[in-house]
Amino acid sequence: MQPTITNGASTSIWHATVSFPDFSPLQNNAQADVCVIGGGIAGLTAAYLLSKQQKKVILIDAFTLGAGETGRTTAHFFPPDEWYAALEESFGTDHASLIANSYAAATDTVESIIGMEQIDCAFQRVDGYLYALSSSHYMDIDQEFDAARRVGVAVEKLEQIPGIPFVTGPCIRFPHQAQFDPLKYLKGLAEALVRNGGAIYGNTRALKIEDHDNYQTVCTQHGKIRAPAVVVATNTPFNDRVVLHTKQAAYRTYVIGVRVPLNALPPILMWDNGDPYYYVRLELRNPECDYDMLLVGGRDHKVGQDPHPEHRYDEIEQWVRERFPMAQSVDYRWSGEIMEPADGAAFLGRNPLDNDNVYVISGDSGNGMTHCTLGGMIVTDLILGRKNPWTSLYDPGRKITHGFFEFVAEQANTLSQYSDWVKGGEVSSIREVPRQEGAIVQDGADKLAVYHDAEGKVHVLSAVCTHLGCIVHFNSAERSWDCPCHGSRFGIDGEVLHGPASAPLSIRK
Ligand SMILES: Cc1cc2nc3c(=O)[nH]c(=O)nc-3n(C[C@H](O)[C@H](O)[C@H](O)COP(=O)(O)OP(=O)(O)OC[C@H]3O[C@@H](n4cnc5c(N)ncnc54)[C@H](O)[C@@H]3O)c2cc1C
Ligand code: FES
Repeated sequence: MQPTITNGASTSIWHATVSFPDFSPLQNNAQADVCVIGGGIAGLTAAYLLSKQQKKVILIDAFTLGAGETGRTTAHFFPPDEWYAALEESFGTDHASLIANSYAAATDTVESIIGMEQIDCAFQRVDGYLYALSSSHYMDIDQEFDAARRVGVAVEKLEQIPGIPFVTGPCIRFPHQAQFDPLKYLKGLAEALVRNGGAIYGNTRALKIEDHDNYQTVCTQHGKIRAPAVVVATNTPFNDRVVLHTKQAAYRTYVIGVRVPLNALPPILMWDNGDPYYYVRLELRNPECDYDMLLVGGRDHKVGQDPHPEHRYDEIEQWVRERFPMAQSVDYRWSGEIMEPADGAAFLGRNPLDNDNVYVISGDSGNGMTHCTLGGMIVTDLILGRKNPWTSLYDPGRKITHGFFEFVAEQANTLSQYSDWVKGGEVSSIREVPRQEGAIVQDGADKLAVYHDAEGKVHVLSAVCTHLGCIVHFNSAERSWDCPCHGSRFGIDGEVLHGPASAPLSIRK
C-alpha cells in the first residue's frame, strides 16, 4: 500500500491500513453552488449533506482526504470533553441540555449515513465510562453524574468499569456511544459525494477567499472556484486571521496502539478526569488477526511547547502496562492536533467577519467526530435557509463569556510566546545543529529554523510564523516546525502542514 501523505511524520493505525484514491489537483477555474475547503470529517460531512440536497459541490484539500486530524483521531463518539457540570454552570441547564441532544443527533446522523450509503467502517455502538483518577476526584464524578441526569442524559453510576483488569473505582456509564474507523467512513462519504455529482480535488490549497456581491471566489495555486457559498473546514480557519484564534487554543495529543489478546477486553470507551488525562478504546481487528488493538491516548500539551515530546509515548505505555497486564507489543505511536474552544462549545456556522456566505467548522476539541458532524449539519441548514435548533449555541461570532478565566490564561500564554523574539538562538551556529534535529539559530536580527537531515543536508528557513509572527519551535516527533501561538505547523521544507497560516515559511539560502 502506498503511504498516504499526511501532515506529520508519525503514522496512525488508520493511515497504515486504509488507502485513498488520488484526487488530481484543480486544473482550471470552476464554478459550483458550494465550495468546501478541507477533506476531513467536517468538510466531507458538509459536502455530502449538501450534495444530498442537490447542491453542486466542489471540495478541495491541500493534501488528500483524511490527511489532517481525522486520519489521526481515535474516533470515539462520547460526551463533551467539557463536562456537563461545567457546561451547565456556564450555559445554564437548558443550553447544556441542547448540547446533549446535539451530540446524540450527530451520532445518530453518522449511523444513518452509514446505513443509507452502506459504508463498511466498523461502526459500533459501545458504552462509554468516565472514572475518577483517584479517590480525591470521587466528588467530581458525583457532580458530573447529577449534572448529566439534569440535562437529560441516561447515565448510570457503577462502582467499577466492567471487564477492566484494574480497580477503576466509581464511574459513570454513558450508554449508546460509538466508535468507527474514521478513514473508511471518509472514503464512504467521498464515494457518495461523487455519486451525487460532487467533485473532489486533491493537492489544491485555498490561499484566500475573495468576497464579491453575490458570490465568493476561492483562490488556489491552480485556479479559482466561484461559488455563492464557501465552507471553511480546514480544522482551524486560514481565512480569519485573528478573531477565532483568540477564542481557541491548539493542543497536541499522543496515542499508542498496543496489541492485546483477542477478546481479552470488552469493546468500551473509557476516560479519566486526570491532568494529564488518558482516553482508551478497543479496536477490534479483522478476523484474520489473532489480537485486538488497545488505543490509548493523552499527555496533551500546547502545540509548539515541547520540542522533544517522544517521552509522552513512553509515559502512556507505562500507564498502560501498569493497568493492562495483557498488553503486548506497541505497534503504533502517533500524535495530532486538537483545537480547544475557550468555553467548551465548538464554532459551527457563519464566519464572524465575512458576509453571510462564508461558513466555518472549528473548535472541535476532543469531540471532533461529533462536533464536525454537527458542523456539517448546521452549515447545510444555514446554506439552505432552514431552521436549526443549535445555530446560536455554536455561533462562531458569539462572545466568550463562559470559561473566561481559562480564556484569559490561554491569551496570556500566547502573548508570552512573543518573548522568543528577545531570546537568543538555541544553538550559536548552523553547524551546531545535530543530524536529524532542528534548532533556532540567531542570524543578526533574524531567526532561522534550521533542520539537519539524515543525509547531512541542512534546510534553512525563516523561523517567523507566517500567521502572526511568533517564532516556530522544532517538533522532533513529527519532524515539523510548530508555532506555539495559534497552532500552525510547517514541514522542514517550509510547507504549511496545519493552519491558521496559509503561506509557507520562507526558504533562506
Ligand atoms: C490523537 C487524536 C485523538 C482524537 N480523538 C478523538 C475522539 O476520540 N473523538 C472525537 O470526537 N475526536 C477526536 N479527536 C479530534 C478529531 O479527530 C478532530 O477534531 C477532527 O478529526 C477534525 O476534523 P476536521 O475535518 O475539522 O479537520 P481535518 O481532519 O484536519 O481536515 C482538515 C483538512 O483541511 C485540509 N486543509 C487545511 N488547510 C487547507 C487549505 N488552505 N486549503 C485546502 N485544504 C486545506 C487539510 O489537508 C485537512 O485534510 C482526536 C484528535 C486527535 C489528533
Ligand atoms: S499560528 Fe499564529 S503566529 Fe503562528
